[in-house]
Amino acid sequence: MKVLQMLRNLQLAQNCITDADIAILAEGLNLPRTKVQALIDFYSFLHNEPRGRYDIYFSDSITDHMLGSRVQAARLCEKLGAEPGVPRPDGAVTVSFTSCTGLCERGPAILVNGMAVDRMDDSRVDEMAALIEGKVPLEEWPLEWFMINDALRRKGPLLEDNYTPGAAIEQAIQIGADGVIEALEGANLRGCGGAGFPTYRKWDLCRKAGGDQHYVVCNADEGEPGTFKDRALLNGYADVLIEGMTICGITIGATQGFIYLRHEYEFLRERIERRLERRRATNLLGRNIQGHHGIHFDIEIAMGAGSYVCGEESALIESLEGKRGIPRIRPPFPVTHGYRGRPTVVNNVETLCYAANIVARGPEHFASTGHYLGWKLLSISGDCRAPGIYEIPLGATAREVLEMCGAENVRAVQVGGPGGILITPDEFDRKLAFDHMNTAGSFIIFDESRDMVDVAVNFTHFFAHESCGFCTPCRVGTKLMVQMVDKIAAGHGARLDIQQMRRIHHLMTRASHCGLGQSAAVPILTTYEKCPPCFQERLEDIEYKPAFDVEAAIERSRQIVKEEGRPR
Ligand SMILES: Cc1cc2nc3c(=O)[nH]c(=O)nc-3n(C[C@H](O)[C@H](O)[C@H](O)COP(=O)(O)O)c2cc1C
Ligand code: SF4
Repeated sequence: MKVLQMLRNLQLAQNCITDADIAILAEGLNLPRTKVQALIDFYSFLHNEPRGRYDIYFSDSITDHMLGSRVQAARLCEKLGAEPGVPRPDGAVTVSFTSCTGLCERGPAILVNGMAVDRMDDSRVDEMAALIEGKVPLEEWPLEWFMINDALRRKGPLLEDNYTPGAAIEQAIQIGADGVIEALEGANLRGCGGAGFPTYRKWDLCRKAGGDQHYVVCNADEGEPGTFKDRALLNGYADVLIEGMTICGITIGATQGFIYLRHEYEFLRERIERRLERRRATNLLGRNIQGHHGIHFDIEIAMGAGSYVCGEESALIESLEGKRGIPRIRPPFPVTHGYRGRPTVVNNVETLCYAANIVARGPEHFASTGHYLGWKLLSISGDCRAPGIYEIPLGATAREVLEMCGAENVRAVQVGGPGGILITPDEFDRKLAFDHMNTAGSFIIFDESRDMVDVAVNFTHFFAHESCGFCTPCRVGTKLMVQMVDKIAAGHGARLDIQQMRRIHHLMTRASHCGLGQSAAVPILTTYEKCPPCFQERLEDIEYKPAFDVEAAIERSRQIVKEEGRPR
């Protein structure tokens, strides 16, 4: 077991990681203590200081805010006499906040000792406070609190498929690696994790890369606020995912796969483990799969420990190797230099599920949607009558989607998460498709009652919190953006603050190492462009005189990082 997994287990078992633990781990694994400490500092759910015996995190996502998370967190703190973010003096409980927990359509959501609980209303909060005061163990809390159901509102070829275990594997073996690649190309399947890279090319590049061992990694980190479609697939379609990973392994010549599951989805881990066990027992996983001599493939689950940037594929690989999740310098790309430096396919959960579906049913099944070939899962949350998961044909317009989910008086929609696109009613005829309005699957609806500056403030804080700090433009830039949006939200901004933010954004886009830094200023700037009334009362028409030249400061810091190299 890797050091990160050990640290996570220690944290969950004893609420903190002590100096003695660090010393034992460092000695046992022959690592410097500073490396172990660096992991604790990096991952949000690892702590040196003890947390409460009931360790509670409220999800800080905008969708949870809209459903009342701040009010419920304050209520719970008041009932328990606890201060937010600080363990109660008797060590019984800590109530704090964390980035989106992926239960956006069923908030306000919390994690308690790593387990997810949804729909925190007044009565649930009061009951929970009583259980905590009564020192009732978590195992005796109402079972229904921990039952996370998925609202699958609209089904397409993936969600409505009558899956036959092993069908895709048999087909993959029959048509061979060339046939699988052809099927994925014919279906025009593109990555569903955000970048939309053609899946057939990724698999083909990896299988043709040299080396004795190749790997398959399923990206189940799903940290983009407003995205929860992978959660639903992991919950209800884990067999399809495992089958997709298995055919990927067979195609690219890998015998080992990993599911990198975000910490917040701990509640799904056991269920997926059981599926893996069952498939091993029925010879759908393991050695000589389904009696095919020489076809071996198995899967291990690796848990994250709280870091949005670990969703970026190279950071994910670093984390999988037990390190801090700092994105690698690319090229080389994972398809040639991935896990342990070996060729690796990293695919999103949904992509792997569709791959299994396409190989089993044929490419036409997926690509028969007209001009915009294919389908996409959307996680719809926010102001609508029917939030949940929708499988839509690519090319559907935002307006059609809004009609499907019963949204009215819509002021704006955030497509693709905080770093994605904010659209207003004049753009609702835009199409959801890879080359038009790309989305990793998040679709958050805001009606006329919402203050869009609050939304931009939430997103900007999210990016600053999740910046891994590796590159200076992002580390410094995200903090500056937070100061500026807070100032504007409080009504103390000037129009020239916006100009200053544009300059910082320009720098961050050019000089940041990964997508996080490149997107961090997008929410406030697009909100300013598209929802000017929200700013009318908040921006004075005075000239802003910066205390120092931000651009020069960031350039200088960049230079220092370049000269001194990448911090380790
Ligand atoms: C900051 C950041 C976070 C990301 N988070 C995720 C994620 O949670 N899940 C995911 O599948 N891809 C995420 N990605 C995209 C991955 O880097 C990668 O493109 C994807 O896993 C590839 O799989 P696909 O080809 O199936 O889309 C993220 C990218 C960035 C820059
Ligand atoms: S852009 Fe931000 S999140 Fe990405 S590597 Fe740089 S500091 Fe880390």
